[in-house]
Amino acid sequence: MQTSETTFETQVALLRPQIERALKEYTRFSEDCPDKLSQAIDYVLLDSGKRLRPILVLLTTQACSGEVAESLPAACAVEMIHCYSLVHDDLPAMDDDDLRRGKPTCHLVFDEATAILTGDALLTRAFEILTDLDSPSLVTRCLKELATAAGPLALIGGQVDDLGAPELLAKKVGKEEALAQLMKIHRRKTGAMFSVSVRLGALVAKASEAEIAFLEKYSEKVGLAFQITDDLLDEQGEEKFVGKRTQKDATAGKLTFPRLIGIQESREYASQLIEEACLAIMPLGEKGENLRLLAQYVLERNR
Ligand code: IPE
Ligand code: IPE
Ligand code: MG
Ligand code: MG
Ligand code: MG
Repeated sequence: MQTSETTFETQVALLRPQIERALKEYTRFSEDCPDKLSQAIDYVLLDSGKRLRPILVLLTTQACSGEVAESLPAACAVEMIHCYSLVHDDLPAMDDDDLRRGKPTCHLVFDEATAILTGDALLTRAFEILTDLDSPSLVTRCLKELATAAGPLALIGGQVDDLGAPELLAKKVGKEEALAQLMKIHRRKTGAMFSVSVRLGALVAKASEAEIAFLEKYSEKVGLAFQITDDLLDEQGEEKFVGKRTQKDATAGKLTFPRLIGIQESREYASQLIEEACLAIMPLGEKGENLRLLAQYVLERNR
């Protein structure tokens, strides 16, 4: 049977090996990098994960008639920041998880200090490799965009508020206030990295401001839908597919969409967002087909 995953996978089959190869190249360090650190970086970065964000970078470049090879540094930088955020997210001081991408988490296989430093290494390396982009002006623009998305007003801020949400909920805030906070958390902790993936892909392709504006709309909707489906997979997913422990958010008292509006309404909302995302990129015509497939996959994924 043709599922959204198989259709999507067929379309991106040529991109995946390029991403894997480039990530491997970018993390081949000289002997100044201690073996333990190098092994931990390989463990969390290579041959794993769905690679949705780097694929999004490359597909956006493609959709804006740019050269995919030229956006590989940006694609790898985004995936490195994503992987660092996962390693830190799993730490005992944060979500305290023991399973990631179907394997024991970094701090369990290595140790907590190594996991923290592995995250630091991926974060800094991401900015270093971004300087491989084509021109100094493109590098400067992309560095600023990525730093903003990974920074205190976006990813980090979202993570801090995610961790603070159980305390907020304990104060028995009203549904409206909780929903506003939830949107704000998801937009920053997850949405920002989807948005910057699209923006970098578009910048490499020298897309027009008008193109960037509707792609921005697409990425905001897809990013939010992605975190809603992440929340849903935590509630209802199967560990063997998801590769993470499930039913952890409720136990940890997290603020999630299923908790606030229920399973059914969360599904409907995600579906509506994906529809709106696809509508937003209508001006791309056929060139937007793979971005539409990615959006559909986000909605129907089981991992
Ligand atoms: C998990 O992201 C973290 C969230 C932002 C929800 P992914 O589900 O994309 O994780 P990988 O990269 O495929 O492991
Ligand atoms: C994590 O959100 C978002 C980031 C890592 C920035 P979650 O905590 O829900 O992600 P999972 O479910 O552990 O992958
Ligand atoms: Mg978390
Ligand atoms: Mg987590
Ligand atoms: Mg989650």
